[in-house]
Amino acid sequence: MSTSSKKTFYVTTPIYYVNDVPHIGHAYTTIIADALARFQKLAGKDVFFLTGTDEHGQKIEKAAAEKGLTPKALADSVVGRAQDLWKALDISYDLFIRTTMDFHEKGVQKLFRMLLEKGDIYKGEYKGWYCVSDENFLPDDVPLEAEGCKTCPDCGKMASVVSEETYFFRLSAYQDRLLKLYEDHPEFVRPQSRLNEVASFVRGGLKDLSITRTTVKWGVPVPGDPKHTVYVWFDALHNYVTGIGYDWNTERFGKFWPADVHLVGKDILRFHAVYWPAFLMASGLPLPRTVFGHGWWLKDDTKMSKSKGNVLDPHVLLKVFGPDPLRYFLLREIPLGQDGNFSHEAFLHRVNSDLANDFGNLVQRTLTMIGNYFGGEITGAAEETVEDARIRTDFEELKGRVFDHYDACALNRALEEIWAYIGRVNKYLAENEPWIMAKDASRRPRLARVLLQAAAAIRGASYLAFPVMPRSVEKVWTFLNEPKMPAEIRWDGLDFGGFGPGRKIGTPQALFPRVALKDFLEDARIGEQAIPAVKQAPGAEKAEAASAPAGDNKEGVIAMDQISYEEFRKMDLRVARITEAERVPGATKILKLKIDIGTEQRQMIAGIAETYAPEDLVGKRLIVIVNLKPAVIRGIESQAMLLAAITADNKAVVPFFDRDIPAGAVVK
Ligand code: MSP
Repeated sequence: MSTSSKKTFYVTTPIYYVNDVPHIGHAYTTIIADALARFQKLAGKDVFFLTGTDEHGQKIEKAAAEKGLTPKALADSVVGRAQDLWKALDISYDLFIRTTMDFHEKGVQKLFRMLLEKGDIYKGEYKGWYCVSDENFLPDDVPLEAEGCKTCPDCGKMASVVSEETYFFRLSAYQDRLLKLYEDHPEFVRPQSRLNEVASFVRGGLKDLSITRTTVKWGVPVPGDPKHTVYVWFDALHNYVTGIGYDWNTERFGKFWPADVHLVGKDILRFHAVYWPAFLMASGLPLPRTVFGHGWWLKDDTKMSKSKGNVLDPHVLLKVFGPDPLRYFLLREIPLGQDGNFSHEAFLHRVNSDLANDFGNLVQRTLTMIGNYFGGEITGAAEETVEDARIRTDFEELKGRVFDHYDACALNRALEEIWAYIGRVNKYLAENEPWIMAKDASRRPRLARVLLQAAAAIRGASYLAFPVMPRSVEKVWTFLNEPKMPAEIRWDGLDFGGFGPGRKIGTPQALFPRVALKDFLEDARIGEQAIPAVKQAPGAEKAEAASAPAGDNKEGVIAMDQISYEEFRKMDLRVARITEAERVPGATKILKLKIDIGTEQRQMIAGIAETYAPEDLVGKRLIVIVNLKPAVIRGIESQAMLLAAITADNKAVVPFFDRDIPAGAVVK
């Protein structure tokens, strides 16, 4: 086992923008952080886990204006959604920081002033290109396109020209020190491949960085010059120090800073591996140990993101499965650092095979046998045979390896090893056939031994999985009637013999739901439809589209890919009149509608049950697409699709006609 001698562990997630509610991609970073935090607690460390929201900047200012809200009102509404999601995912953060919090703003101003006095910040004039979506200044070598515009090389969106008085941070002065940092501490950036990228970027030369804006009002005012606001990345990065008490809780700050690991997606690695250490070097604060750049969750091979309209709502999965299957899947499926394609088939396969079959069944079978054959209390077990002993010694070795994997942030490796062991225990039971032994009274001591061994293995293996699946493991420990819960036991204090004879265990219940792929895919489809690609009133969207220059893809306003008129014409949009509406038994989101489309009657499934009662719909006229390939949802064929706006809280609002348009009228 290897762990640093430090007694504390400080882990952070990026702070999430509040221009939209978090999706599975955001949940991923937070789940990783949670698993690491929980593991380090088991390892005996005093842990601090910080997450929160990034609430300032042009992107939020714009998103709020588009929704007709103040930036603070937008932030307030999204923060609640984020916190609800973290609760549903059992995220054990210690502080949820918002960059609009007073202590944070004061801390940023103090650091800004300090660097200004030191000469690391100076006033000048900035002229260049800016990407609002990434809140990033474009490098000079990004080519000017024929239309006289530039595209952000990171996100592919249109940049705009910025020309204004600004304060610069003297980033260029830190080039050599940064390169030395990467050389002396290669663990500063992980995985290794990303270190090389970052170092070569810095070697290419660093320019001073504009860190204030006069045209953006929504930000921390520059001390002594309030017509400037602090650049959102200078503001946001400092959450990692203000969040644990910089300038307001010096004891806690002294205890936890520097951070052990900043978890970030690879898209924002540069900000964390170049700007952030340079800011810290300038203010004389110690540097974090590691910035870990993880990969992305993709959907259909494209990064899941709101602007692409391909995000998945974690709540759809959480409602059916609870938090642990999603936590397990995201951490098991890809090594930290690599990208992964999210597919519902792969998700369900993992849940049914690894969780329900391999683990859930093992628990259920073993404990049921202990209940049936021993009244819940194993006594009179035979001595261990070599084969029984191997289950124990394998576990002791496994425990060491899993510790090292967690400690190295190799979460998928830790889970792979635990599940390989669970497979061995299943095999041990299959080979020993305790259900046959139970028929022969003379084999009772052997039966007791085999079940004892299996129960101890279940207890041990589940403990090792606790950082990833805390809720299910606590259930298992409750079935086992453990006097303490896993979180109360240190890694070193867990031994295989902790489950000994004489313990009266409880009745097991199913740990994971069994869901058929067909039903699941139908539900998941509804879930996908419920995630908005565009979130605003239809009128506002049109106005924005009309005023936007050709090719301008504004985040949250216009979908990324343009289609030709010919493609648009392929859609047959018609006025339909609802003739019948009813609920679908067992489904909370969908309604079954009968519609008249002029030439015929059709039935359709619509994800509007949370917004409309069936009885209010009959007679209403709306727009439907009538030439979309039919889909079967919950066993019902849906022969059309309606158009609806999606509200900030994910409800579908249908635009109904306010006068009698005949059913079947063409919409174009
Ligand atoms: N506000 C900045 C971070 C400031 S930290 C001082 C930001 N916010 S974000 O909301 O856009 O993204 C937050 C994190 O979510 C990033 O690490 C990003 O990589 C991650 N993800 C967003 N979409 C993702 C996937 N599809 N997959 C995995 N992670 C993704 O950037």
